[in-house]
Amino acid sequence: MAMTHSPLKFTLADVFFRDQAAVGASGDLSIVLNRISLAARIIANDVMKAGLHGQLGYTGDVNVQGEDVRALDLIANDVFIRVFEPVESVCAMASEEMDDVHYFKGCEQGKYVVLHDPLDGSGNVDIDGSMGTIFSVHRRKSTDRPPTVEDMFRLGSEQVAAGYVLYGPATVFVYTVGAAVHGFTLDRSVGAFFLTHPELRIPEGKGSYAVNEANEPKWNEATQELVRRFRAGETECGKRSARYVGALVADFHRTLIQGGIYMYPGTTEKPNGKLRLLYEAAPLAMIAECAGGVASNGRESILSIQPTELHQRTPLFIGARPDVEEAERALRG
Ligand code: F6P
Ligand code: MN
Repeated sequence: MAMTHSPLKFTLADVFFRDQAAVGASGDLSIVLNRISLAARIIANDVMKAGLHGQLGYTGDVNVQGEDVRALDLIANDVFIRVFEPVESVCAMASEEMDDVHYFKGCEQGKYVVLHDPLDGSGNVDIDGSMGTIFSVHRRKSTDRPPTVEDMFRLGSEQVAAGYVLYGPATVFVYTVGAAVHGFTLDRSVGAFFLTHPELRIPEGKGSYAVNEANEPKWNEATQELVRRFRAGETECGKRSARYVGALVADFHRTLIQGGIYMYPGTTEKPNGKLRLLYEAAPLAMIAECAGGVASNGRESILSIQPTELHQRTPLFIGARPDVEEAERALRG
């Protein structure tokens, strides 16, 4: 029987990045993507062994977001710093796990900055559930001066590369440099990602809706009515089943492959919701839009929001175009 996702002609991710570089993107960007794929392979290994090595617990610290920090969050963050230390083209890095920007010594002229959520959904480690990494790459407007936090405050539409890694039963690396979206699957036996999902497109007219419905009492009436219609199968975009992993990367990956919508709305007390613009919403928005979908905060495209803070939050409605447009209609009133 033919496998649906057998490696296509055994196309290695590293070779694919290099070939893309040859047709437009610079060679330096392919090095950045290679390093992210290396970080992903190391983190995949750490996630797999975490239970054995007793790295499941909390460190006792609370991060800048007010969330309890897990040992694995810090390990994954550290992996990202270490893999980029030898990369001169990357001058600075921001992450969910660091209050401030990390600057790489001796790389002040580097043209790229990298932003990431090193281990999204890390709470799932306790239940052997899926987790992820989300990343965003920006090219600095000028390399004449050392990098500052301002280099991070860029529109999502200006990202030069974005993507995520899903640590599920298989580790999957999905990215775009602004045209098509491609997915690769890690073959652990050889330690390499192979192209398995070329030119991904979000299917329309099917799939699921994902939202933490326990937050319903905290939503405004328009959001409550929107979710009620999805639940009751009364949406114009069609009936959707309900699915919620509770790890953004896993919920988004399902939406990308099977269609539908992922929602993390704001509440009346916290109108910007929970998710972070720069290293959660914006990179996934770039993936969604390059795959034919839409990402919105309910009023405007995630890709056109001007960031003013490193850890800025935003409501997120992301997925197939008809589903997200339905959400926008409901929320705009
Ligand atoms: O990073 C934030 C996050 O852990 C996402 O991975 C996930 O989608 C979301 O929080 C879950 O939030 P909640 O538990 O409020 O549904
Ligand atoms: Mn996260």
